[in-house]
Amino acid sequence: MIRTIKSCFTRSFPKAVALGLAAVLLAGCTAAGSAEPRTLRVGVAVYLQSDTFIGTLVQELERLAQAREIEDGVKINLNVVDGRGSQLTQTEQIDRLIALDYDVLCVNIVDRTSAAQLIDKAQEADIPVIFFNREPVAEDLYRWDRVYYVGAKAEESGVLQGQILLDRWLNREQPMDKNGDGILQYVLLEGEPGHQDAMLRTEYAVKTLTGAGVEVEKLAGDTANWDRSQATARMSSWIEQFGTSIEAVISNNDDMALGAIDACQDLGLTEDEMPVVVGVDATAPALEAVREGTLCGTVRNDAQGIAGSMLELALALAKGEEPAASLPLSDEKYVWLPYQRVTLRQLEAEQGGV
Ligand code: GAL
Ligand code: CA
Repeated sequence: MIRTIKSCFTRSFPKAVALGLAAVLLAGCTAAGSAEPRTLRVGVAVYLQSDTFIGTLVQELERLAQAREIEDGVKINLNVVDGRGSQLTQTEQIDRLIALDYDVLCVNIVDRTSAAQLIDKAQEADIPVIFFNREPVAEDLYRWDRVYYVGAKAEESGVLQGQILLDRWLNREQPMDKNGDGILQYVLLEGEPGHQDAMLRTEYAVKTLTGAGVEVEKLAGDTANWDRSQATARMSSWIEQFGTSIEAVISNNDDMALGAIDACQDLGLTEDEMPVVVGVDATAPALEAVREGTLCGTVRNDAQGIAGSMLELALALAKGEEPAASLPLSDEKYVWLPYQRVTLRQLEAEQGGV
C-alpha cells in the first residue's frame, strides 16, 4: 500500500507518516490521480557518464521517459547522477537519493562488490532497485525481492564477436592470415578488470574461434578500461613490438577498437598492413567505421532496449504492480536483452530493406 501511496506524491513523505496516513490517504490519492498527473521520481546512478555506451543509454532513457509522459499522462522525474568512476562518490549520491525518498533507484554500480551494502540500505527505506549494465553477483540480487537486473548476456556478445572473426577468417577472398602460417595472431584489448563483460567477452570470443578449429596465437593483451585513448597507447606499443604481424584486434568494446584503429592510422599502416578489428556496442562512431571499412564488425549492445525495459520496470514497481505481468522476467530477477551482430553486410542489408 505504501508503494501506491508514495507514487501519488510529487514530494517525499517520511515512511512513518506515510504508514500512519496510508488508509486515510488511499481514497484521496486515487481521486487526486485523475485531477493532476502523478510524478514518478527515478534516481539514476551511473558509474561514469562520459563512457560512450553509458552516455547513449542515459540519452535513450531520457528520450523514452519523455515519450512516456506524453503517452501515459504521468510525470517522470529522472535524476541522473554521475559517480565519475568512484564508488565512494556513488554511495554518497545513492544515500542522498534514498534520503529524498525516490520511488525507484536505477544503479549502474561502480564496484560490483558494493551491491550488497546498497541493497540493504534500499531495503531499509523500501525503495526498489534496478541494477543495469554492471551486473552484481546473483547472491546479492537475491538478498531482497525488490531488486532486479536489466542487461545483456556477456557471453552472448563474446560468441557473436567470435563468429564475426570466424567468418572473416574463413573468407578466402580477403586473406587475414598475413604471414600464411595458418595461425591467427591476435592482440586483445580488455575492458575494466572484474567487469562481467570484459571477462566473458574475452573468454567466449576466443573459445568461439578455437571451438571452430581455428588455431590462434595471442601476441599480447591488456586492459584499456573501455577507453579509446588508453587503447591507442596499448596498440601503439604493440605495433612497435610486433610490427605488422598482428592479424586481428579483439576488443571488448567499440571505443577501444576505435582507439586501436587510431594507433594504426597514426603509425601510417597501409590498408594491407591493417589488422582486422572487432568491437562490441555498435556506437555511432563504430557504425561509421564499419561503413568506412576500418572496423570489421561489432555487436549491438541494445541501449534502447535496456533503457526501455528499465523504464517499464520502474513504472511497474512505482505503481506497485507485479513486474512479471508486463516484462519477461527470468528467474524473477533478470530482464535480458539480446545482442546482435553488425557487419557491413548487415548494415547494407538493413539499408536495402528500408
Ligand atoms: C559495457 C559496454 C562498454 C562499457 C561498459 C560500462 O557493456 O560494452 O562499452 O560501456 O559496459 O559498464
Ligand atoms: Ca598468421
